[in-house]
Amino acid sequence: MLRKSANDIKSRKGKTPIVCLTAYTAPIARAIDEKVDLMLVGDSLGMVLYDYENTLQVTLEQMINHAKSVVGASSKSCVIVDMPFGTYEESVDKAFMNSARVMKETNCNGIKLEGGQKISKTIKHLTQSSIPVMGHIGLQPQSVLIDGGYKVRGKEKSEWQKYIDDAVAVEEAGAFSLVLEGMAEPLAAEITSILNIPTIGIGASPSCDGQILVTEDILGLSNVAPKFVKKYVDLEDAIKIAVNKYAAEVKDRTFPSTEHVYRMHPQIVSYNRKD
Ligand code: KIV
Repeated sequence: MLRKSANDIKSRKGKTPIVCLTAYTAPIARAIDEKVDLMLVGDSLGMVLYDYENTLQVTLEQMINHAKSVVGASSKSCVIVDMPFGTYEESVDKAFMNSARVMKETNCNGIKLEGGQKISKTIKHLTQSSIPVMGHIGLQPQSVLIDGGYKVRGKEKSEWQKYIDDAVAVEEAGAFSLVLEGMAEPLAAEITSILNIPTIGIGASPSCDGQILVTEDILGLSNVAPKFVKKYVDLEDAIKIAVNKYAAEVKDRTFPSTEHVYRMHPQIVSYNRKD
C-alpha cells in the first residue's frame, strides 16, 4: 500500500474517524505505522523527549532530524512535521524557505503551523507553492506565554466567533485539515460542521473528524496527565520491572547465559588447547 497523502486525509471529511498520533522516533514510528492514518512529528517533542518547559525552545534542526527517522521507519501513514516557533511568523518568504527545507530534507507529506487569521496569508502562500499545510487553532502551545496559557477555549459563547473566523480563514487559505486543541465540545462541533476540511481534535471532543494524542501519553511514558489523555498501557511500569530483572541477573551472573555468549569455532578451540 502506498503511503497516505495529505489529500487522502482531506478526502476523509465526514467519513470514518481519522486516527492520528505523534511520532518522534523510529521505534515508535515502526510500531504505530500500521494502525494510524497520520503521524505528526510534533514540536511537543521538546517537552516529551527533551524535558523543556514549553515548545518554544525547539529548533528546526531538531524537527528535521526527528522527522527523518520517522519517515525512514514508516511506509503507510501520512507524516506531517510541525514548524517550530520562530521559523514561519516573520514573513511568508521565511516560512516558505523553512517549510521547503523541511519537505526536501525529510521527505514528509506536509507541515503544520499554529494560528488562524493571523497566519492565513502564510498558509495561502505555502499551499499555493505546493506545500500541504495542516492548521492548528484553539489552544496554541507556541503562544502560551501571551495567550491565556493552557486553558480550554470556547467555554464562553462570546469567545466563539474568533475561533470560527480562524477556522474558516485556515480552510480558505488552502489547509488540508485543521487541529482543534483544548476546545469545549459545542465549539468544536460547530467548527467541524462549518468546515469542508477534516478537524482533528486533541482535547476537543469526539465531534471532530479525527483524533490525535501524544503517543508517549497513551503509553504511560510521560509525566503529564491532562484530562483529555487516556493512558492505554503503563510502559514506565513495564520498563521498571524489566530493568529490575536485568539488574538482578547481571549482579548474580545469570545474565548473560549460554544462549547469549559467543563461542569459538571448535577446531580453533582444539588448536588453542595445544593437545
Ligand atoms: O506538537 C504536537 O504534538 C501537537 C499536537 C496536536 C499533538 O501539535
